[in-house]
Amino acid sequence: MSPERAHRVTIFALKTGLAGATKAPDDPVLAIRRFGLDFSNPVGLAAGFDKNAEVPEAILRQGFGFTEFGTVTPKAQPGNPRPRIFRLPAQRAVINRLGFNNEGLEAAFARIATLRASGRAMAGPIGGNIGRNKDQADAVADYAAGSARLSPLVDYLTVNVSSPNTPGLRALQGRAILTELLSAVLAARQRPIPVLVKIAPDLTDDDLEDIVRAVIDTQTSGIIVSNTTIARPAGLPPKLAAEAGGLSGAPLFAPSTEMLRKVYRLVEDAVPLVGVGGISGPDEAYEKVRAGASLVQLYTALIYEGPGLVDRIKQGLAARLKADGFSKISDAVGIDAR
Ligand SMILES: Cc1cc2nc3c(=O)[nH]c(=O)nc-3n(C[C@H](O)[C@H](O)[C@H](O)COP(=O)(O)O)c2cc1C
Repeated sequence: MSPERAHRVTIFALKTGLAGATKAPDDPVLAIRRFGLDFSNPVGLAAGFDKNAEVPEAILRQGFGFTEFGTVTPKAQPGNPRPRIFRLPAQRAVINRLGFNNEGLEAAFARIATLRASGRAMAGPIGGNIGRNKDQADAVADYAAGSARLSPLVDYLTVNVSSPNTPGLRALQGRAILTELLSAVLAARQRPIPVLVKIAPDLTDDDLEDIVRAVIDTQTSGIIVSNTTIARPAGLPPKLAAEAGGLSGAPLFAPSTEMLRKVYRLVEDAVPLVGVGGISGPDEAYEKVRAGASLVQLYTALIYEGPGLVDRIKQGLAARLKADGFSKISDAVGIDAR
């Protein structure tokens, strides 16, 4: 099955309840509170799977501690021509150049509004990841529109300035423009929910310092490290490595974790971090936590491992924390970076 068809089938299974639900309650050692939100476990679904906010409740029922829909842009847009997702199974990796294909802000808004109106309690926080349309010159206006529309309904917002598939997007990570952008997103909120910024793994140490300054100056709540990489580490099949797009999965683990450690050293506990990139089991999740992540997210490993992965990570993470003498996960955050 083509990657995009497999994705549609999975969304359908989640929508119709065919995907089932986890029964295991979360071990209390995994509970954590960050930016004013309570998480019964720190394992979230990364942005890009549920681009249109179709299945947040079903994802949480699978055992994720939180979920992030999007990236959503103000207007619907088709994204890049297909094929635009490539599997690298031997490397447990994916290259994608989707280009923010999504149904737009109003479609996502309507779905989350219906969910909230149901009155049902959600098993964890729901975040909205916002971006800009490809044909929009005024990037700040697009992000502000996302913030204004979604902030009444989501538990947090993520400002995605790190997708490699929208020309010019990653330039928004510069200090001056990022400060302006984050200020605009914060000001456009209809209520004071936390705002996170999601950064690329392909940044220099100077870039990281600039980003951290912008985050601290604007009082942005957290940083997600990281999006996919434009780098092509050795050992990828040359034909696939030549495809344009962002690489995710196992080859991203080491560089994204190294960057996480660097960012943690810059911010310590002042700004909570979300560690993403190449998590495929409890060992990687635990390493991210010890490198500075208060929360983690994953996407690519789900493609290869299936939904049982979430319970496996949670159980393994709880066991590792206890074996190392931690009674709560927050005590392990950043322990290897200090
Ligand atoms: C097919 C695909 C689509 C993605 N789309 C988005 C997106 O729309 N917005 C975003 O912030 N990240 C997106 N990502 C990046 C993931 O959220 C995550 O940061 C990255 O894949 C690294 O995590 P992983 O190695 O566990 O997949 C996408 C990743 C993949 C594989």
